[in-house]
Amino acid sequence: MPGNKDSLTITDNRTGKTYELPILYGTYPKYGAAINAMDLRRIKASDADFGLLSLDPSFMNTASCKSSITFIDGERGILRYRGYGIEELARKSSFLEVAYLILDGELPTKPQLEEWTTRVTYHTMMHESLKRLMDGFRCGTHPMGSFIGTVAALSTFYPESKNVRSKENRREQIVRLIAKMPTIAAFAYRHSVGRPYVYPDNTLDYTGNFMSMLWKMAESRYEVNPVLAKALDILFILHADHEQNCSANSMRSIGSSQVDPYSALAGAAAALFGPLHGGANEAVLRMLDEIGSKNKVPEFIAGVKSGSGRLMGFGHRVYKNYDPRAKVIKRLADEVFEVTGRNPKLDIALELERIALEDEYFIKRKLYPNVDFYSGLIYQAMGFPVEMFPVLFSIPRTVGWIAQWEEMLMDADQKIARPRQIYLGADTRDYVVMSKRG
Ligand code: ACO
Repeated sequence: MPGNKDSLTITDNRTGKTYELPILYGTYPKYGAAINAMDLRRIKASDADFGLLSLDPSFMNTASCKSSITFIDGERGILRYRGYGIEELARKSSFLEVAYLILDGELPTKPQLEEWTTRVTYHTMMHESLKRLMDGFRCGTHPMGSFIGTVAALSTFYPESKNVRSKENRREQIVRLIAKMPTIAAFAYRHSVGRPYVYPDNTLDYTGNFMSMLWKMAESRYEVNPVLAKALDILFILHADHEQNCSANSMRSIGSSQVDPYSALAGAAAALFGPLHGGANEAVLRMLDEIGSKNKVPEFIAGVKSGSGRLMGFGHRVYKNYDPRAKVIKRLADEVFEVTGRNPKLDIALELERIALEDEYFIKRKLYPNVDFYSGLIYQAMGFPVEMFPVLFSIPRTVGWIAQWEEMLMDADQKIARPRQIYLGADTRDYVVMSKRG
């Protein structure tokens, strides 16, 4: 019998031997009880054996790290950064304040926030050579492609960034990254539509400056609409981190080789470019176009239930309740549409939600609107083309990527990420010379 109740007893039926593996707990035992996979290596069929591995394609049930940054309770629809609920942060904080919180663990005091904001504001410019590099992308190029390429190129401008063990050095690159993301994003957009670049205006705040770089034309100063700037700021807060998702995991994995943060972050952004990660809000807009009008919604829902497609923007691997970010975005949509005019697709979306939330199929499978259900409608109403959606996602998520990267570097348990495999290929074979093949 095991001596410790916080343990797992495993009997290997190949040998009859019994092993006791300690169970480790996080802050919330319901979501954070685990065994250490390395403990399985003690379990061997013979002394010559390598030891037992756990097989888990796609990390369906594997914790890759211990983290103190973000917590999600998918059953209850809870998302917290450093312990603070997302709804409250969206209501009371600014994006740069939340960025400070995510990176440092504490909300900034007034002087700390002022200093942080000043530092970020004075790093918004980019090197002229980097601008010329962006010019080299084909006209009409996808802005996310040129965004990823330009972020990767930053490492050539800041070669000292490879010194990832120095805290001071990391802090310098972190400020640069957060400051330059809107500039690179706006330049990628302007290049994709063939407009001249607009340089940062340091008298504007983070999102106001971004809007100016995106949309300023011949006027001497861009007039920022405060409602839209605030809405963008809130959307940035909602997208700042989401614990161990595909791109955060990419950032950690690439960064574990101790490469500079620009190269690692370009890889994380590339992961986000994939349609299964950053592309769902675009799919929602396409779906709404396809449905066409409110009275076609019942027919569309019937089609989804009979397996002809999915209700895009519904369901989530982790959330089995209303995504808390979707709640905030739904409220935000009304404020944005007051300024931009109502996106006509909203009525279709509201009808879809109303019918789906009353339908046994969706109730039984715990399918609720996720962050992407309403975000695309807002971005479209604000004037963003769908190609900009993953770029818009990458600007705030940069904060989460860097926080996850730094936490990984500081974690004494972490080494270069290198999973194992279960080999299913051929046994050793004699080499066949070309003339004897086939
Ligand atoms: N519409 C209709 N049925 C759905 C949907 C949906 N959107 N999502 C899941 N289901 C059904 C599945 O068919 C399955 O039914 P079954 O049990 O009868 O086979 C059941 O619900 C469970 O679905 P899974 O695919 O196992 O759920 P999983 O956790 O793997 O998928 C995912 C999550 C990919 C998000 C899925 O819900 C989906 O495809 N949603 C639509 C796309 C989307 O909105 N993606 C954005 C996610 S948020 C983000 O990435 C930022």
